[in-house]
Amino acid sequence: MSDASPHEGLSTLLHEARTFAPSPEFAAQANGTAELYQQADADRLAFWAEQARTYLTWEKDFEEVLDWSQAPFAKWFVGGKLNACVNAVDRHVEAGHGDRVAFHFVGEPGDTQDITYAQMHQKVQRAANALSELGIGKGDTVTIYLPMIPEAVVAMLACARLGAPHTVVFGGFSSDALHSRIQDAGSKVVITADGGWRRGKPSALKPAVDGALAQGDTPVEHVLVVQRTEQDVDWSEGRDIWWHDALAAAADTHEPEFFDSEHPLFILYTSGTTGKPKGVLHTTGGYLLQNAYTTSVVHDLHPETDVYWCTADIGWVTGHSYIVYGPMTLGATQVMYEGTPDTPHQGRFWEIIQDKKVSILYTAPTAIRTFMKWGKEIPEKFDLSSLRLLGSVGEPINPEAWMWYREVIGGGRCPIIDTWWQTETGATMISPLPGVTATKPGSAMRAIPGITADVVDESGEPVGRDAGGYLVITAPWPAMLRGIWGDPERFKETYWSRFPGVYFAGDGAKFDEDGNVWVVGRVDDVMNVSGHRMSTSEIESALVSHPKVAEAAVVGANDATTGQAICAFVILREDAVEEADEVGEGAELVAELRNHVAKEIGAIAKPRQILIVSELPKTRSGKIMRRLLRDVAEKREIGDVTTLADSSVMDLITEGLRAGD
Ligand code: WTA
Repeated sequence: MSDASPHEGLSTLLHEARTFAPSPEFAAQANGTAELYQQADADRLAFWAEQARTYLTWEKDFEEVLDWSQAPFAKWFVGGKLNACVNAVDRHVEAGHGDRVAFHFVGEPGDTQDITYAQMHQKVQRAANALSELGIGKGDTVTIYLPMIPEAVVAMLACARLGAPHTVVFGGFSSDALHSRIQDAGSKVVITADGGWRRGKPSALKPAVDGALAQGDTPVEHVLVVQRTEQDVDWSEGRDIWWHDALAAAADTHEPEFFDSEHPLFILYTSGTTGKPKGVLHTTGGYLLQNAYTTSVVHDLHPETDVYWCTADIGWVTGHSYIVYGPMTLGATQVMYEGTPDTPHQGRFWEIIQDKKVSILYTAPTAIRTFMKWGKEIPEKFDLSSLRLLGSVGEPINPEAWMWYREVIGGGRCPIIDTWWQTETGATMISPLPGVTATKPGSAMRAIPGITADVVDESGEPVGRDAGGYLVITAPWPAMLRGIWGDPERFKETYWSRFPGVYFAGDGAKFDEDGNVWVVGRVDDVMNVSGHRMSTSEIESALVSHPKVAEAAVVGANDATTGQAICAFVILREDAVEEADEVGEGAELVAELRNHVAKEIGAIAKPRQILIVSELPKTRSGKIMRRLLRDVAEKREIGDVTTLADSSVMDLITEGLRAGD
C-alpha cells in the first residue's frame, strides 16, 4: 500500500450539481432499463442465470449458477458447455446474418477492408485448423503479438475455438517483456506480424519475437507471421511460417468442440504492485456473458443498426472485452483502426466516424484530453451526426473533458457512459445505464444491475454517503478473474486479503451525497499513464538492472494529458557518479537509462523524467516516501517530512535539482 491518501483532491469534485438525463427518445429505445436493477436486487443469481440464457448459446445448459464454496475461487454456470468462438461468429451466420459486416477495417495508410461474419467464419475455421496442424489443442496457450489488424481478432477467436487460451501481448512491449510472458504462459506457438503501420511508417514487430526467442528457455516451436507491411524479416527455417501459407494449406471447415463454462479462455498480463506482471486468468462462460450483457445494456448496442467503434488496442483488456468478446457475441458491426489519431492529420478519428457512420464511440480520457488540446475546430470540420452514444474507460475522466466530449463530439445529444472496470473484473462493473441514469460529469455513477460495489474505510466498514475510502466489490461476479496464472496465493493475497470476504480493487473512491461513485485512482503502486497500467516497482526494477544504477524510486506525477506521467529518481553507483562528473554526461546518461527501460519493458514505460539524486527520502523503517517525491515531480511545496529518517534529505534533493536546472 502506498502512502497516497485515497481522498486526495476529492473535495473539489464532489458537489457536482449538473446532471444530464437521457432524452425520452434515447430512453425509449434503450436496451438497459430500470427494471433490471429491481430484478437483480430481487434475486441476483436468478438474474444472472436469465442473462446467461438470453445472451449466450449453450451446447449444454448449466446446472448451477454460482459455486462459491471454494471462495475466492469462483465457478459460474457450473456444468454448462459452450464455445466462445461459436457464440461470437458461427451462430450469427447460422441465424442468417452472414452478410453483415463484422469489421470495417481502416489501415493507417488508408487501405480498407470490410469483413462480414461469413468471412470471419471462414477465417476462424481455417486458422483453427492451421493451429491444430501445429499441435495446438485444448489447454495449450498461444501468445499473440500483433498490431491492430483483423488477423488479431481471427487469431484470438481461433484459439478460443480450440480451447487454447490466448495470451495477447501489446505490441509496445519489448522483447524482454515478451520473453517473460511467453515463458510464464508456456506457449508453444507465437502469432506475430512482420510489422504494422505507425505514424506513416512501417514499424517492425518480428524482431522483438526473434529477440525474445533468442533468449532461449521457452517451449516455442513455431511462429506464425502475418504479412502486413511487407518489410524484410529474418526467417528461422522450420520455426517460422507465414500465416497466409498456413491458412491456405488448412482445411476450410472446422467442427468446434464445446468446453466447460470454466475452461480458461485467456491470460492477460497486467501490472501489479510488485515487479512481476500478473497473468490474469479469465474463463469462458461468465466472462463472455458479462461482456455480451454490458455491451447490450451499457453500450446500448443494437447489432442491426449500430456501427460501433472501440478505439482500444487488442493488447489491453478493453480490446479483448469490447472489441472481440462483447460486441461480436452480439453480432455487432465495428470499426477497427490500425493507427494513431494524428496520422495523417489530427482529424483522423472524426473522418473515420463520418465515413463509416459510427454511432457508438468508446475511447479513453487521455485521448479526449489530447483532442481538447488540438482544439474543437478539428472535429467541427466533420459530420459527427451519426453518433448517438459516447463511452469512456481507463481512468477517471475530469469534468471538463466530460463536458467537452458531450458538447463538441456528442453535439449535446449523446449520453456518456463512464465505465469503471479492470483487467481483473473482465467487464464493466460501474457505469450509468444510458437510457436510465441522469449522469454527472466525472462520476461513473453506480454498480450496474447484478453487480454490488461499496466504498469502505481502513477497517473495511462502509463509509456511507459523502465520504471516501477504498472501492470494493462485495459479491462475486460472472466475469471476475479466476486467478493469477500459476500463482493462486498471489491471487488471494492481492485481492482478497485486504478486506476479508470482499474484492479489493486497488482504487480509491468516494460516494457523493446521492450515493454515486467517484473513482479517484489507484491507492497502490500502480500508475495510470494514458490509460495504460504501469507498476512503479516494475520500472524501478528495470532501472536498477542497469549497471550504473544503485537505487531507483518511481512515482506517477499528475499530467494534464496522460493522467499520470512516469517520473524516476535515481541514485547512481559510485563509479558511475565519478564518471558522470568527469565527462559531464548527465543528459546522455538519462537518455541511456530511458532506453534501458524501453528495452526491459517497452517504449510505453519510458519515464518522462529521470532525476539523478544523491539520496531518497525514507521512513525509519526504510520505506521510500513517494508522496514527497510526487511533490518534487509536480513542483509543489514539499509536504510533511517529520516521518523521514533524515529530514534533510529533501533539501538535498531539491537543491541538487535546482543546481541541475
Ligand atoms: C482505472 C482498464 C476511473 C482504475 C479497463 C482501474 C478507471 C484501472 C476507470 C484498471 C473509470 C478504469 N474511472 N478509473 N471509468 N476505468 N480505471 O486493468 O484505476 O487496464 O483500477 O483496465 O484503470 O486498468 P486496466
